[in-house]
Amino acid sequence: MNVFHSQSQLKSYLEPLKQADKTIGLVPTMGAIHEGHLSLLQRALDENEVTVVSIFVNPTQFNNAEDLEKYPRTLERDVELIKTVSDNILIFSPSVADIYEGNTIAQKFDYDGLEDEMEGANRPGHFDGVGTIVKKLFEIIEPTKAYFGEKDFQQLQIIRKMVAKNNMGIEIVGCPIFRAESGLAMSSRNERLSADARQKAAFIYQTLLKAREIFQTFDVIQTEEFVNESFKNSAAFTLEYFVIANEETLKTVTSKESGKKYRGFIVVHIEEVRLIDNIALN
Ligand code: PAJ
Repeated sequence: MNVFHSQSQLKSYLEPLKQADKTIGLVPTMGAIHEGHLSLLQRALDENEVTVVSIFVNPTQFNNAEDLEKYPRTLERDVELIKTVSDNILIFSPSVADIYEGNTIAQKFDYDGLEDEMEGANRPGHFDGVGTIVKKLFEIIEPTKAYFGEKDFQQLQIIRKMVAKNNMGIEIVGCPIFRAESGLAMSSRNERLSADARQKAAFIYQTLLKAREIFQTFDVIQTEEFVNESFKNSAAFTLEYFVIANEETLKTVTSKESGKKYRGFIVVHIEEVRLIDNIALN
């Protein structure tokens, strides 16, 4: 297994592969690897001659020092999990100093307003931090394709926007949400749930599936009402938000228009863990 701890090491390794025009697939992660990440890696392996996974807990995308400090760092376990997919994956796990070179601040990005919606609204600067690290990774690795999960749909659209606006020439591949058998979207945060809460959390996806059904016949308001009511009746959860937004602009809407694609976005708290999920509605 090839694990690289500095950009210079990785760049020298990749140089001859680039000279030989090999296609390179990149899967950026912050580690705490789970099956959701592994599904992205499998897709990258299938579609590229060289696959790189980055494992880097990026300080500039955290709003709060405690969250950054508490973020799980489990490199050894991550390497073992990645090995179960293939021995042929390059792991890039640099230090903060190597990436930021003493200047741990985010570049400012303009994503045409995508950054102001949903997850951006209550995390100022978060998507500047995400753009900063992803741009750095793109410059170091120069991938042919990069893989992002629909689990973080807003992030996926923001990266697409960054690449398009800056003509970066990298194909961004959006990958479906990988779910546990119960329907719960895989996340490193699921580890913090009791077995009971994990089972209960299946209710989130069940509700999203019903919301999709309702949206076929009814409009935005009725669908939102259904979800709000469903969570009012369940004691275990606190619903932070459920909104329906245009897939492209991420602007929330109050009624649907033909020819537009919509998604429902949800944030729910259970046992003080913040869970996020979304579903394509049409
Ligand atoms: P992280 O939360 O580690 O996620 C890495 C990638 O895995 C993201 O593209 C995310 O959407 C995807 N992912 C997570 N859970 C998934 C699931 N259940 N199904 C499918 N994909 C899933 O997102 C980040 O890291 C960071 O912001 C990063 C892009 C690495 C920049 O630091």
